Amino acid sequence: MQILFASSECAPWAKAGGLGDVSASLPRALVSAGHDVRVLLPAYRSLRGGLSDALETVRLAAQGPWPEAVLARLAGTGFDLWLLDCPALYDRPGNPYGDDAGIDHADNAARFGFLSHVAARLCAEGGPWKPWVADVLHANDWPTGLAPAYLSRMPRATAASVFTIHNLAFQGNVDAALAASLDVPPEWMSVEGILHWSRLSMMKAGLRHADVITTVSPTYAKEIQTPAFGCGLEGMLQLRAPSLLGILNGIDSTEWNPVTDALIPVNYGPGQWAAKARNKTALREKATLHPGPGMLFGMVSRLTEQKGVDLVLETLDRVIELGGQLVVLGSGDPILEHRFMDAAARHPGQVGVRIGFDEGMAHLIEAGADCFLMPSRFEPCGLNQMYSLVYGTPPVVNATGGLLDTVSDSDLVEDGTGFVMATPTTAALRDAIERAAAAFGTPARWRGLQERGMRQRFAWLESAKRYADVYADASRTRRPP
Ligand code: ADP
Ligand code: GLC
Repeated sequence: MQILFASSECAPWAKAGGLGDVSASLPRALVSAGHDVRVLLPAYRSLRGGLSDALETVRLAAQGPWPEAVLARLAGTGFDLWLLDCPALYDRPGNPYGDDAGIDHADNAARFGFLSHVAARLCAEGGPWKPWVADVLHANDWPTGLAPAYLSRMPRATAASVFTIHNLAFQGNVDAALAASLDVPPEWMSVEGILHWSRLSMMKAGLRHADVITTVSPTYAKEIQTPAFGCGLEGMLQLRAPSLLGILNGIDSTEWNPVTDALIPVNYGPGQWAAKARNKTALREKATLHPGPGMLFGMVSRLTEQKGVDLVLETLDRVIELGGQLVVLGSGDPILEHRFMDAAARHPGQVGVRIGFDEGMAHLIEAGADCFLMPSRFEPCGLNQMYSLVYGTPPVVNATGGLLDTVSDSDLVEDGTGFVMATPTTAALRDAIERAAAAFGTPARWRGLQERGMRQRFAWLESAKRYADVYADASRTRRPP
């Protein structure tokens, strides 16, 4: 099948979180399964250097409210990368969404509306490098939520649309007065349409107009149909339930594999515990933590309420009492960033905190920590708990979304792979950490736990096959314009 995969992130070029990983590894897996995939991504500043290596470029004329731009075709790693070059919108410092200080760009509606428009237009008009006509437009999260909507009213379009929810909490709800500038017709601006809390919702546009909706784990697919997890969109999701399903993300074993990982000091496989221990030593040195026999807990996370990192701060004293240490890598909410830096100052040599985005250190924490903490209040899929499992770093997780679908509690089931909290509370996290520390104190049990995790595969190829079925389904059920 020919698939146009539209996303605001694609690792390693543009990544703010798991969407970046998935937007590279899923297209690659689809290509391995025999599909023809083009990934459409804005030419952010971090990517503009690559424009000079473009294989081909084509000018896209201005259309309606949309500006002129250039589309450049690059050979990605494993797929064709189509870069949308419009310097006025994308040539800025910072990450895909905001400036260096973490403030969202004021014109994100226009930036991602345009990306969505171009995605739909390329499907309707055919790729500029012919012959290439998409069978499916696969849009991801709110930044490309308008793409299925635009496509639905392009009479020449034959492509079906699939929309994947990676995180329902980010909805791209913008001032309803922007509708005309986003080429959104008045008839869409109702609660049955794409209006949400009196704002134009890009997320809701995807949910309302895509032929098929997927999300990134089976449990999250159920959770988002309830008020507790639906972020106000549960009604729309219940309505679309017959066309909604969860497909678990995979992990890219060329990037995240302790046997071959080029970003860690010592490679290791199951049973090679001395080699894993050398990564622990390297991690402690990097985080200026004291040596010793104690247990090292690790965390790599956006520092937000979603991730339950406040629960970790509240449980820290217990970690220290147990003789444990904590290393944290993350960035996000400034208040949480300060609380973690304070914790490091209060516990020198026991708590190490690095605020920022650091790919190398993320890999080192997965390899060097003994146990990974991920007490998220909600987690559509989560990648870090899967990385932890295959790195022999058993995770503590809350029982939600993809965490529940990938980790089982070793105190409850014989072949458990981690520690699962029943609720996202300090008491439940403390209990799980105490249980993990007890297991760590029994080396034979801990080794078994590590090995079971390291044998997990989370292969993308399986999930890619399920996406291919979804594409076929979407093509069959494609709704008329
Ligand atoms: P989410 O997408 O909700 O942030 P995921 O677990 O799906 O959560 O994916 C997070 C991805 O971002 C992982 O690849 C993780 O290693 C990476 N990541 C998160 N924070 C950082 C950071 N501060 N530095 C480096 N990588 C990070
Ligand atoms: C989102 C979710 C995360 C998921 C990722 C990739 O950022 O928060 O759970 O793993 O997208 O799908």
